[in-house]
Amino acid sequence: MELSDYRYECMDALEFCRSLPEKSVKLVITSPPYNVGKSYETKTDIEDYIANLVPMLEEFVRILSDGGSLCWQTGNFVDDGEIYPLDIYFYPYFKKLGLHLRNRIIWHFGHGLHCTKRFSGRYETILWFTKTDDYTFNLDDVRIPAKYPGKRYFRGKKRGQISGNPKGKNPEDVWEMTVERLIDDWDAQVWEIPNVKNNHPEKLDHPCQFPVELAERCVLALTDPGDIVYDPFAGVASSLVAALKNRRRAYGTELDAHYVEIGLERIRKLGEDTLVTRPIYQEIWKPKPTDKVAQVPKEWTEKASEP
Ligand SMILES: C[S@@+](CC[C@H](N)C(=O)[O-])C[C@H]1O[C@@H](n2cnc3c(N)ncnc32)[C@H](O)[C@@H]1O
Repeated sequence: MELSDYRYECMDALEFCRSLPEKSVKLVITSPPYNVGKSYETKTDIEDYIANLVPMLEEFVRILSDGGSLCWQTGNFVDDGEIYPLDIYFYPYFKKLGLHLRNRIIWHFGHGLHCTKRFSGRYETILWFTKTDDYTFNLDDVRIPAKYPGKRYFRGKKRGQISGNPKGKNPEDVWEMTVERLIDDWDAQVWEIPNVKNNHPEKLDHPCQFPVELAERCVLALTDPGDIVYDPFAGVASSLVAALKNRRRAYGTELDAHYVEIGLERIRKLGEDTLVTRPIYQEIWKPKPTDKVAQVPKEWTEKASEP
C-alpha cells in the first residue's frame, strides 16, 4: 500500500509535543510506561511517577484538536503485592485539564500470569476522553457482526420489525482482543504478560506491545482519513501502523532506538504489503469441548480414583 505521511523519531515525547502547534492532532493514543520496572523505565513511587508525567498530559491536551480524542491505555502498577489501577490515578488529572470521559473501555484478554495471592488479572483499561462535546465518532466504521441479526421487536409499534442495524452492532465497551492460536499444540505455547504474546502474529522484541487491532478500532472510530494520530510512547509503532494502514497521518516518539528501528521496519513492511497483523474483528480462538486441551487430564482422574 502507498503510505500517507508519517514521522517516527527517537525523541522524548515532551520535547516533541512542545514543537507541535496547538490543536493540531486528532487522536492521541498511547500506553505510557506503567512504572513496573520494565527495561525502559526506572520504578519510582506512584506519586513521583504521576508527577513526572503531568507536564506531558498538559501537552497532550494542548495539541488535541477540538473534535479530537485521547485514548489512554493502562493496567496496574503493582507494589509489594498491592495493586494501583493507573487509570484511577490519571483520571482526575485529565478531568482537571478539561477533558470529557466517553468510555472506560475494558480490554479483556484470556491469558496471563497465574496469581496465587489474588485473582489473576485479565484486563486493562482504555480511558477514552474527548476535548469537547463536538467530537468525531464513526460508529458505523467499527460495528461488529450482531449475535442475533434476525432478532425482531416483539411488542410495541415496531413489533415484527428487525431490531438490529444491517451494518452490525456497537462493539460495546468490553473488548476481547488477544492472542490468535497459530499452532496446534497448546502446551507448546508460552504465555507471557502482556498480551501480544510469543505466538501472536505481531509479536516483536518489546515487552508491552499492544495489538494493532486495539489501536485500529480507536483510529477508525475517532478520526477521519488524513487526520493526525500521535502516539507519544510509541514502542514498536503499533498505533502508527494502525493509523497508516487506515490512511491517517501518524506521528510517534520513542526513547529507545531499538524499538524505533523495529517500528520503522514494521512501517516499511506495511508499505510493501508484507506486514502481518491480526485482522480486525477476527474471532478469538476458544477451545471446543472436544479439543484435547479442554479435557480433564488422565493423571488427575486416575489420582482421584486411587484408593
Ligand atoms: C508501554 S510501552 C508502549 C508500547 C507500545 N504501545 C507498542 O505497542 O509497542 C511504553 C514505551 O514508552 C517509551 N518511553 C518511555 N518514556 C518515554 C518518553 N519520555 N518519550 C518517549 N518514549 C518514552 C518506552 O521506551 C516504551 O517503549
